[in-house]
Amino acid sequence: MKFTDSPVIELPIRDSLLSIQQDNGSMHVGTSVWPCSLVLAKFAERWAPTTPISDNTTTNRPYSHLFDFHSKRRRAIELGTGCGAAGMAFYLLGLTDIVLTDISPVMPALKHNLKRNKPVLNKNLKTSVLYWNNQDQMKTLNPPFHVVIAADVVYIEESAAQLVGAMEALVADDGVVLLGYQLRSPEAHELFWEMCEKVFMIEKVPHEDLHPDYAYEETDVYIFKKKKKNTVD
Ligand SMILES: C[S@@+](CC[C@H](N)C(=O)[O-])C[C@H]1O[C@@H](n2cnc3c(N)ncnc32)[C@H](O)[C@@H]1O
Repeated sequence: MKFTDSPVIELPIRDSLLSIQQDNGSMHVGTSVWPCSLVLAKFAERWAPTTPISDNTTTNRPYSHLFDFHSKRRRAIELGTGCGAAGMAFYLLGLTDIVLTDISPVMPALKHNLKRNKPVLNKNLKTSVLYWNNQDQMKTLNPPFHVVIAADVVYIEESAAQLVGAMEALVADDGVVLLGYQLRSPEAHELFWEMCEKVFMIEKVPHEDLHPDYAYEETDVYIFKKKKKNTVD
């Protein structure tokens, strides 16, 4: 799917409908909704179990344990949330202890959309200003988090290393980073993946496992887990 200039993006998640207002005319990319966030959210919706599953339950549904937000309380954070599409969707899937973060100029668009969707969410979701290079802001958020979500955040070479650093600092040793990805800048792409390979074990979700209505050739979902400290490359 291509980026759409429609003023409102609707995102159905289970029995709920998120309605996200975007402003494509703004100078901040975070005031628009980007396809990666929809692809990531619908991938999670496809596999998230509706009832808790136990650790020793074997299931032929891949990703079920990953998205089982009901049996254990999971702390989560979204980086570069923009209008909050992915974060709100994960909240509806049971990831209720989640904080949505972005840079200050994007906060009004985020807060506007959280308010707009409050009847569906039934709650004011937590938000926080977080610049990926700001260690103090990260410390205030009290990491680690079991789940770190990020969608379409790799497009500036200068911040690619900061983003990997933030992911590494925020995710728990046994946690996951869920990344919706689209190639935006070859330079940022190269640096980002080079750094990620040093820090994370990387799994690319096959396209047939994405939600069939939200699977586009140019958009991928990745699952990162931290490499153990003594893992030899
Ligand atoms: C292309 S938008 C994606 C927004 C949203 N995740 C989506 O998919 O609709 C990239 C987001 O990353 C945020 N971002 C970029 N650089 C950042 C940085 N250094 N620290 C924190 N957020 C940043 C932007 O403000 C923006 O909201």
